[in-house]
Amino acid sequence: MKKIKVGVLGATGSVGQRFVQLLDGHPWFELESLFASERSAGKKYREVSKWFLPSEMPAEAAEMVVQSLNDVDASENEDIAIMFSALPGSVASEVEKRCAQAGYCVASNVSVHRMVPDVPLVIPEINADHLALIEVQKEKRGWGGFIITNPNCSTIVMALSLKPLMRYGIKEVRVSTMQAVSGAGYAGVPSMAILDNVIPFIESEEEKMESEPLKILGTMEEGSGIKNAAFNVCASCHRVPVMDGHTEAIWVKFEEGVTEEEAKKAFKEFTTDIKTPFAPSKPIILREEQDRPQPRLDRDAGRGMSVSVGRIRAGRMENEVKYIAQGHNTVRGAAGASILNAEVLMERKYV
Ligand SMILES: NC(=O)c1ccc[n+]([C@@H]2O[C@H](COP(=O)([O-])OP(=O)(O)OC[C@H]3O[C@@H](n4cnc5c(N)ncnc54)[C@H](OP(=O)(O)O)[C@@H]3O)[C@@H](O)[C@H]2O)c1
Repeated sequence: MKKIKVGVLGATGSVGQRFVQLLDGHPWFELESLFASERSAGKKYREVSKWFLPSEMPAEAAEMVVQSLNDVDASENEDIAIMFSALPGSVASEVEKRCAQAGYCVASNVSVHRMVPDVPLVIPEINADHLALIEVQKEKRGWGGFIITNPNCSTIVMALSLKPLMRYGIKEVRVSTMQAVSGAGYAGVPSMAILDNVIPFIESEEEKMESEPLKILGTMEEGSGIKNAAFNVCASCHRVPVMDGHTEAIWVKFEEGVTEEEAKKAFKEFTTDIKTPFAPSKPIILREEQDRPQPRLDRDAGRGMSVSVGRIRAGRMENEVKYIAQGHNTVRGAAGASILNAEVLMERKYV
């Protein structure tokens, strides 16, 4: 298969660097261009990206010259088919639309377009059928390209774990998160604020966790878009001194009684027909040990693309099961999720 060319918007940030790392050697995609702010434009990537381990920096990307966002639709970039976006929301809104207008497929990590009715918000193992919104979007907007999004990093972990439980009829979900510092971006949380500490506030995070899963777990209705899943999510989000990997304590209330064994069975039996290069063979891994999952032990499962669940037990409320879910926030929760979406787009001939 001939590789298609891709670019990364916000390539010097926490998620942008993950994109560059994960795209290195990708069998279908070839990294063509890197974009960041005016602070970085015109400089070599190795000079402006604070890579976690310098030895992990792909040699070709290291020597690429970072471009300004003003150049996204310049003629030298016209061979690019997919723009992966890891920009701050304030910048992304206008730039992503401009890219879609210019004919690119924009695979975005950013929250600004996620809840827009004609923009697919996709976790392929759950709702690849929502990609049908692309046609609606293109027709409505008259764009040559389109925007597709993946969820917030905490939402992905929780939504994946909820999918197998949907068969029992979910009535209500409560979640308390323990989120890694890399989720706040490279400049993110100052070390003096997070070391020896827990910060019980992450701006807009609870709102995202309470809305995005309902769209993702909703149903695609012919002609009228997505009908949201019919339960409420109540979230409390916290930043903890962990480098990578979000951990979530989740309480699920069902319409009727569900046993611990039934919940475990649902997790174990969950399979997917998504078989592209980044798709993990097991999107959900059940950890049977009593003290798992843990970020250090489990975040890299399935090359960072699997979500681990464990400590499944009956809750104290009526018809309630509680458990812990864990996933890599910048891989499954961000760059890896976008790449997986792009692979599915290619496989289904949207690109
Ligand atoms: N971190 C996560 O786990 C995670 C997970 C899911 C989604 N997201 C979302 O992904 C996006 C990026 O997050 P991040 O954590 O990677 O942030 P980050 O580390 O702060 O990186 C931001 C990137 O955007 C560029 N940028 C900043 N201001 C700009 C401007 N005015 N014009 C052009 N480029 C600009 C930066 O370039 P310079 O280096 O040149 O400043 C950098 O490349 C955000 O929307 C975030 O909400 C993050």
